[in-house]
Amino acid sequence: MPRLAVLGHPVGHSRSPAMHNAALAALGLGAEWRYEAIEVAPEDFAARVRAMPGEGFAGANVTVPHKTAAFALADVSSEGAGRIGAANTLVFADGQIQAHNTDAGGLIDALPISPSGIRALVLGAGGAARAAVWALRTEGAVVDIWNRTEARALQIHLELSDPAQPEDSIQIELQGEFRGAVVEQFDQDEYGLIVNTTAVGLHGEDPFEELPLRRAGFGPGTVVADMVYGEGPSTLLQVAAATGAEVVDGLEILVRQGALSFQIWTGLEPPLDVMRAAAYSLGGR
Ligand code: ATR
Repeated sequence: MPRLAVLGHPVGHSRSPAMHNAALAALGLGAEWRYEAIEVAPEDFAARVRAMPGEGFAGANVTVPHKTAAFALADVSSEGAGRIGAANTLVFADGQIQAHNTDAGGLIDALPISPSGIRALVLGAGGAARAAVWALRTEGAVVDIWNRTEARALQIHLELSDPAQPEDSIQIELQGEFRGAVVEQFDQDEYGLIVNTTAVGLHGEDPFEELPLRRAGFGPGTVVADMVYGEGPSTLLQVAAATGAEVVDGLEILVRQGALSFQIWTGLEPPLDVMRAAAYSLGGR
């Protein structure tokens, strides 16, 4: 029986087992494949992963806080995982550990628009931001980055901009300093897409206090995505939706990354509706 798993710390809250087991059952693979949650502490992560191929695992998802470690221990990696420097999907095949990053493609697939040619603002500078910046830039968006701690935004800029194409470099909003020039005001209206990757809102923080956003700065024609999800749509998404903006819930991004991982492991078309229903049925949704 090929085994699959999500590795995290903590991992108990993960919706991935329900989502993937529902998909496997829908495709008639429920008796053959099984997807489980495995709690693993950072110090045990590498040894745990290396033991998995011998235990019958075909692959795994990797979540917080292991995504960087997963990339680091892989023998080969996709271009995206390499540029992002983190992996959320591992494949065990041919005696090798392969690393992929489907958080990037999951965001793109969840968007109601093509990012090509649009101006996007990514809030945050952690792992989720790196995936978003790489994905959007690869799809042809011009990407501005804002982060509470400026140095981390600068780091993403340095690592993900293309030195061969300086005119196409990622632009950075550094709390007033914009690529060396001073901006009078952070102009939210300029963006066709705003992606929140920060944890703001998860524990009741007010996004309009903590992030450089104005409630009135959204409107029809803006897409607002929140990569973080809770038990219901975030305050950010509720306010944006009320102004007529299109919103993308983090749970939809989770479903889309899961679908891409499922396809990588099984080679089959993922049953999106089944995965979505399973993900949304947990935790009060
Ligand atoms: P992940 O890898 O999941 O993206 P992370 O590396 O912990 O997580 O990054 C969390 C992001 O949320 C960071 O950009 C963090 O900003 P800092 O780099 O300044 O720490 C951001 N964040 C968390 N709480 C925040 C808050 N109250 N206001 C603004 N940004 C916040």
